Parts: sequence; C-alpha cells; structure tokens
Amino acid sequence: MRTIEPAISLRGDLRVPGDKSISHRALLLGALADGVSEIRGLGRSADTMSTAAAMRALGAGVELDLDEDVIRVTGVGLRGLTPPAGPVDCGNAGTLMRLISGILVGQEGRFELIGDASLSGRPQERIARPLREMGASIETVDGHAPITIVGGPLRPIRYELPVASAQVKSAVLLAGLFAAEGPTVVVEPQATRDHTERMLKAAGVRVTRVGTAISVWPPERLEPFSIDVPGDFSSAAPFLLAAALVPGSELRLHGVDVNPTRIGFLHVLERMGARISVYNRRVVGGEPVADIEILSSDLVATQIEAAEVPLLVDELPMFAVAAACAHGVSIVTGADELRAKETDRIDTVVQALRALGVRITELPDGFRVHGVPARLRGGVVRSAGDHRIAMLGAIAGLISKEGVRIDDAEAVAVSFPAFFDLLDSVAAR
Ligand code: S3P
Repeated sequence: MRTIEPAISLRGDLRVPGDKSISHRALLLGALADGVSEIRGLGRSADTMSTAAAMRALGAGVELDLDEDVIRVTGVGLRGLTPPAGPVDCGNAGTLMRLISGILVGQEGRFELIGDASLSGRPQERIARPLREMGASIETVDGHAPITIVGGPLRPIRYELPVASAQVKSAVLLAGLFAAEGPTVVVEPQATRDHTERMLKAAGVRVTRVGTAISVWPPERLEPFSIDVPGDFSSAAPFLLAAALVPGSELRLHGVDVNPTRIGFLHVLERMGARISVYNRRVVGGEPVADIEILSSDLVATQIEAAEVPLLVDELPMFAVAAACAHGVSIVTGADELRAKETDRIDTVVQALRALGVRITELPDGFRVHGVPARLRGGVVRSAGDHRIAMLGAIAGLISKEGVRIDDAEAVAVSFPAFFDLLDSVAAR
C-alpha cells in the first residue's frame, strides 16, 4: 500500500527511462545478429529484464555495464539460438512472449514459453494461427501459454491482421526473417507502432511499407548495431497528464520518443485543451525524438474511436483520468483490445475511477466518463498487479482532494521501477 498525497503543482525537468517496446526489440534482434550490438539507455524494468534473461537462456550473451549504461549483446546469428534445459520464462511481458515466438519458430529444436498468472491468461492463438499458416509447429493450451514451439522450415504468407496489434504484426514479420523466400506481408487494419520495422531496417533487412501492407524479405544475416534507446512516451504519459491537470504545473520532459504511432495521447490532450509544445526535434536510434513542455490548463471532454486506439492503447487508463477532470462527457469506443492487456483494462479502469468517486460507465468496447472540472475525491485504487493501473492511481492521487492509496503499487516496476521517485522529484505537496 502506498499513499499519494495531493500535489500543489508539478514543476521541473525530467527524463523518463528508455522505451520498453524498443528495448525488448533491441535485445531480441541483438541476440540474432552476427557480432556484438550495443544498447545505450535501455529501459530497465521487470519486463525488459525478462527479455535479457530469456536471450541469455537461449545462448546469447547479454552483459550489463552499469557505469556506462550500456548493454552489450553478443548475437549468435540468425539461426543460432539453442533450447535451454527448461522453459523460457516470459514473466509478465506479453511483448516478449509474442515476439520471441516469431523468432523461435525459425530456430532448431523444441522450446517452451511460460509466463506469470496475468500473461498466462492472455490470448496467444493470435500469434500461433498466422505462424502455423507459415508452416510452424506451435501449440498453445486452450489458446494460452505455455506455448510449445518446434522450429522448422517456414513459407512466406500474406496476413491480414484481424486485430490491430503491433505484437502480432511483429511476430509474423520476425518469422518472415526465416521464411524460404520473401516477401512475408502483414496488412494492418489500423497503423500500430512500427519499431520492429525501423529496427530491422537498421540491422540491414529489406523491409518496405506500401499503404497498410508491410513486407519483409529474409536476410542472409543481421548486422550488429549500436542504438540509443529514446525515452518511453508511455512512461512520459502519466507526467504529461499530471502536469496538464494540476494547476500551476510546468514540466519539461527531455528525449522522449515521439514516433507518430505512439503519441496519440499527446494529440488527445491537445484536443482537450492542454498547452503542450514539442521542440528540439531530432532522430535518435532511428526514431523521432523531442523534448515536450506542458503547462496546466482546463480540459474539455473528447471522443476516441477505433482508428485512434492503437496510437494510445497503453495510455487509455491515463486518458480516463483526464476525462474525469475535463468539462463534459468523454467516450472511448472500439477499444476491445483493452480487455486483452495485463488486466482487463476496461474493467480495472472503471473499478479504479469509480472507487475515487468518478462517474464512469463500462461499455463493451470502452467506457464513458462524466467529467467534473475539479479535484477528484480520493480513495483506494487496486492495481490488480497492472503497472498502468498503479500509475493511474498515482496521478489520480496528485489531482485528488484526499489523496489516493494504491494497493500493490509495486506493480509499476513492470515497466518503470523509478516511477514514484521521479514523481516525488517534481511534485510539490
Ligand atoms: C506493444 C504493443 C501493444 C502494447 C504493448 C507493447 C509492443 O500491444 O499494448 O504494451 O511492444 O509491440 P498489442 O500489439 O497487443 O496491441
């Protein structure tokens, strides 16, 4: 249990940890490269450490140089991963389980993937189905982990994603690296994060995008790379939210990844009336990066529909808090995918905000919030072990009258172990 007291304002400059999606991918691709790759600024969290441990278990070298904040990955070559004695434990990390499946189907041997209770409840046939179509031997247990994979020859497919998911897209594109020929094509119903495509290109792979279709050709080898991981927009989001809501706030976040497929929440906050400037734009690690300044302001309600959802899928819990403090009724629809996250995030968001006195209604594919432009009452938020719900509770606490107690606040370590320390460093009480 951790209590977050109301804040008077948030002020200052900060830097959030390296992007989680990019960190996972850098470890995975580094392990497949011919030689040593260097990853600077990797976002160290329970999730990315699961990926580091998995790659070690599969035979790659992963060495942390804490002084220099560099991780050196000694790759084993495209087809060089070897089965460990036991299962590969993916912990809480859905990205690891989905992406590594697309890699292991191209390796030699039999692999088993397991996860924690939350991950073991999440759907995995979404990746198993297209991989089977490519000729892979991959089995789930009633659609869930444990996943068993026996590597073998693969053929290219053209796959129309039934759900907009970067994890499913990435699993198929990664399997395409091992196909007998190219291209393996994935068609997206809506644009999703494109970090895999960018990083494959940086490692020398032929990847193209025409409209909504992404194609990949199997390479001879992957070049080792050196990457600076930019700040995680999803970790910046709670700070942006807090500064927008708490009167008198003024925050600057430096070196944040502003990849257009990630910053839907920034555009939504702007639409609601937030005062945001994005400046000092540059390219880091093949990704667009910038500094973001945000000042507090009154917010008005808005609507979010399916097309926008993938661009802020992990920020929808934060959006619910913004909506609770905005003038008017906000509605999210087309967000069924929230039910397949670390928790059923439609349910956990609705429970969390209701417990704080917010008028929020659950919809089959989203939620409706009756906002009141005032401080929230406060109360107790149960994270249910979900890092994003714990962060929701924290920001709600800052903008509350009575403070918020968070049950299982430690869940933040899944993506952002230093979250509360960083929050304390900018929040005046
Ligand atoms: C991620 C993709 C998203 C996101 C997750 C990370 C990724 O999941 O929610 O936190 O790194 O590819 P889906 O692809 O299932 O939407």
